[in-house]
Amino acid sequence: MDKLAIEGGGELRGEVRISGAKNAALPILCASLLTAEPLVLSNVPQLNDVRTMGSLLSQMGVRSEKSDGSLTLSAAKVDWPLAPYEMVKTMRASILALGPLLARCGEARVSLPGGCAIGLRPVDQHIKGLQAMGAEIDLDHGYIDARAAHLSGTQFVFDVVTVTGTENLMMAATLAAGTTALGNAAREPEVVDLAECLKAMGARISGAGSDRIVIEGVETLHGAHHSIMPDRIETGTFLAAAAAAGGDVALLGARADTLQSVLDKLIEAGAEVSADAAAIRIKRQDKLKSVTMRTTPFPGFPTDMQAQLMALMTVADDTAVITETIFENRMMHVQELKRLGADIEVEGNTAIVKGVPRLTGATVMATDLRASACLVIAGLIAEGETVIDRIYHLDRGYERIEEKLSALGARIRRVA
Ligand code: UD1
Repeated sequence: MDKLAIEGGGELRGEVRISGAKNAALPILCASLLTAEPLVLSNVPQLNDVRTMGSLLSQMGVRSEKSDGSLTLSAAKVDWPLAPYEMVKTMRASILALGPLLARCGEARVSLPGGCAIGLRPVDQHIKGLQAMGAEIDLDHGYIDARAAHLSGTQFVFDVVTVTGTENLMMAATLAAGTTALGNAAREPEVVDLAECLKAMGARISGAGSDRIVIEGVETLHGAHHSIMPDRIETGTFLAAAAAAGGDVALLGARADTLQSVLDKLIEAGAEVSADAAAIRIKRQDKLKSVTMRTTPFPGFPTDMQAQLMALMTVADDTAVITETIFENRMMHVQELKRLGADIEVEGNTAIVKGVPRLTGATVMATDLRASACLVIAGLIAEGETVIDRIYHLDRGYERIEEKLSALGARIRRVA
């Protein structure tokens, strides 16, 4: 199993290009199920989760072709509307196939994701929303069995803000008869990117990016070209790494409007940040300041950046208070940070992080995707060598992370 070895202590300097967003690419790949015509995608990140979604779609009958940096998906015929347990258990986002399959084929069988490392993560909102659109849904031996001769437009208000839930219903509603209004919808930029792609395919959608999205169903969708938005969590991770290590880094292609809350926290923590249409630049010379932060749905501070901010706070000047409000078990990185010498106490869903003068290298274990990113940042500031085990989590969501960090001067290498 691959590990990462990091020799900490140096600053980061230089430029790095931000990849396409994993969490935009996954629903957009599923959107290919909604049309018989080819969907041509560019800026698709090369990640294990994207490859897993590609295999899942290919099992359903979607043909894919790569050329010159673009990926063409053709769902001329969908002959197997099934997402089996083996796939869903490795990638929970497989649930995103449910809405498109049901809308296109009138039936779908998708495994329930079940528990996962960072919390229970139910999919009741996806199911309730599709039922409101007229689908008949049975839960059978761990599978969601859904049928609908025709989906019909509906008014649906989510009980909780859910990103993939909003995406699933928005995709299903594009081909439903009549108008669907989704209330308390997720406002995340990835929802907007998916809506842009669906609109290019002929869907009629307004309000994406607000908490009320209105979709007027159409008979069919057609082929389109779409370029995936830059990854705001990859951007935030590199910004946090640069703020932690110090130095001067430019992130090319990054979009400041998709992560203002993260930029604000980094500035409060003592970093200098500037942004224009081409890049976000970060410098940090002065001592890091401790900050208080709560994760909330967009435009608040993203849960997917909580662990990385915590790594930064381990060496800040005072006491930082970090509260996780989205997932109930997303503090597993705390134990690992402590192995590097961090002083952190967890009370319920709040971590109290007392800044220490320095971290020291040790062997640690990655427990989930963003926890892995947190440990990479901690490794960059720790004295001596940090070895991170189980980095397959990292490969699910970061494209060539060690190459990109090396280009900025980090001493990081992959070891078997
Ligand atoms: C997406 C992101 C993930 C991010 C998360 C929150 C993708 C592929 N993944 O995950 O990286 O961490 O948003 O920003 O885009 N919930 C319910 N019932 C439901 C659905 C969700 O109770 O039917 C709860 C969840 O348990 C959680 C909260 O709602 O507490 C938010 O989850 P949700 O936004 O659905 O996360 P994902 O879409 O799975």
